[in-house]
Amino acid sequence: MTNFLSLADVTDLDALIQSGLDAKANPFASQHLGKNKTIGLIFFNSSLRTRLSTQKAAQNLGMNVMIMNVGQDSWGLEMEEGVLMNGDKAEHIREAAAVIGRYCNIIGIRAFAELQDRDKDYREQVMHQFAKYARVPIVNLESATRHPLQSLADCITIEEVRRADVSLPKRPKVVLTWLPHFKPLPQAVGNSFSEWMNARAQAGQIEFVITHPEGYELATEFAGTAPVIYNQQEAFDGADFIYGKNWSSYTQYGQVLTQDPSWAVTMEHMNRTNNGKFMHCLPVRRNLKVSDAVLDSPQSLVIEQAANREWSAQAVLKEILTSL
Ligand code: CP
Repeated sequence: MTNFLSLADVTDLDALIQSGLDAKANPFASQHLGKNKTIGLIFFNSSLRTRLSTQKAAQNLGMNVMIMNVGQDSWGLEMEEGVLMNGDKAEHIREAAAVIGRYCNIIGIRAFAELQDRDKDYREQVMHQFAKYARVPIVNLESATRHPLQSLADCITIEEVRRADVSLPKRPKVVLTWLPHFKPLPQAVGNSFSEWMNARAQAGQIEFVITHPEGYELATEFAGTAPVIYNQQEAFDGADFIYGKNWSSYTQYGQVLTQDPSWAVTMEHMNRTNNGKFMHCLPVRRNLKVSDAVLDSPQSLVIEQAANREWSAQAVLKEILTSL
């Protein structure tokens, strides 16, 4: 693996999931791989889990870690080519990425969608500019359109539950549900989860269903062939895993079309499932998107999911280090 920008960079998903589970069972087995190697974690946006879990995973592999918040710790970075730099951005990505690439063997980047210009966001300019000019492997720590480290942790979490619960069907039903929110949020987590679950469904591992109000359709490249059910209650029937996430509209780009509170997940919703598990990438606004009762119930996997971020990052970094 040279870069980890999306599922397309994964050659064997089953093996990568198993590598994450192996890392969880034996975190320091590959410590020699990262000796005298450095990872730079570059954040254009806030983070709790991604920052700490990726740092921990790199340390488990023996790596040195440097972290930088762009615009706070560093100069603001200009991404456009050929522009007159007379604005508030003091440094161009050409120099910044090239310099960081001299200090680091691997660079992780977090850069969210701005939700102003769909074409610009979906071009993934920040990731591609870093990949072009840094000349070292790039890891996506959540980009404008994807959050693959989260999706890998979600796959690891589902696989763990599958192995532990023999009563689950051979192909558990996984439902991605839109949740209400007053702020426009990117589609990255929903996109990525759909992309990875569609791959799991195609491999015969799960059944995958998406539910959201009309107007919240994800881009076709991410929704794939998954059935979209606009009736949330119907979608929840018999589900083994409920994955909740808010996203703003893709078609009416960045708009909040509804805040319908009936889409927030409560125990009443969960009672329609097959004693299903509740998943969310976090952070989550309690009682706006999902009730206290669900989050605090044994059905909630949110803490285990977040814990598994360490092992998803470790599996990816291990594969990249092996190829250096
Ligand atoms: N799920 C996730 O990426 O969390 P952070 O935004 O806190 O990193």
